[in-house]
Amino acid sequence: MSAIILAFTDSMAAAGRLGTSLDLPVHQVAVRHFPDNEALVRIPTSAHTVILYRSLNDPDHKLIELLLAASAARDGGAQRVILIAPYLAYMRQDKAFHPGEAVSQKVIGGLLSSHFDALLTVDPHLHRVATLSQAIPGIPAISLSAAPLLTALIDAKDNPIIIGPDSESRQWTEAIAQPLGFETLIATKQRLGDRQVSLTIPEVERAKGRRVIIVDDMISSGRTLAEAAKLLRQAGATSIEAIATHCLARPDDLAFMAAHGIARIASSDSIDGPTSKAALAPLIAHALRDDGLV
Ligand code: R5P
Repeated sequence: MSAIILAFTDSMAAAGRLGTSLDLPVHQVAVRHFPDNEALVRIPTSAHTVILYRSLNDPDHKLIELLLAASAARDGGAQRVILIAPYLAYMRQDKAFHPGEAVSQKVIGGLLSSHFDALLTVDPHLHRVATLSQAIPGIPAISLSAAPLLTALIDAKDNPIIIGPDSESRQWTEAIAQPLGFETLIATKQRLGDRQVSLTIPEVERAKGRRVIIVDDMISSGRTLAEAAKLLRQAGATSIEAIATHCLARPDDLAFMAAHGIARIASSDSIDGPTSKAALAPLIAHALRDDGLV
């Protein structure tokens, strides 16, 4: 059975690493935009199994292009089309918080499961649903944890203290701190707006004179990390770093975090950028082989 990886310009580098790990050819999907911005997608070739690789940050146009590429792959003879979206969008809105709001997770999850035969992602941002299969129903939906890769990024000097900036980060904080025997502190967070959060860190005084590493699943505006850094600096932390699976932060958000004393940010390569330090390819390749998808 032949298999190929198809990737878009924005994910060619990471897809190339996956191709090397799986010893599979990687081809680029061509996208042309008409004057009204409608996309024309062209795939160079198809195969029995087509793996489409694309992270879904900045998701709206990427989703449409993915669906078009999946359709072209099937038209070209693909029997199985697998989506690898290391960062999966639209998982946060899993209920209508206010009257009239769309439940995005249900809509996008249903859309993806009707166009793909399997989906793989890394540390999806799930809140009130326990498993990825609830969000992506009806097809194999594989959720991987980047914690082992992120742990390997940590320089263990000075016995750092690991900080989780909200209660949901406890799972990543503990997965990273426990194997290394590091102490943890978990903050409580209240989100006041897209770019405004309020944090308290119980027992923050334990950070005095310590090197601290903040661990989260994702960095978006960077306000969560900046607020945590402010409290840790006030408590006397000597240096502040951050590690996250997904870093969606834009250059001005990275500058904002640096201005708040975060000396180093490291993330996986789910989104290519200056913080990407850990390649997900070996993890994804292992899972695809384990699940018999390639
Ligand atoms: C929230 O639940 C997540 O774990 C992150 O803490 C959050 O998405 C970070 O967002 P921002 O960087 O915009 O504060």
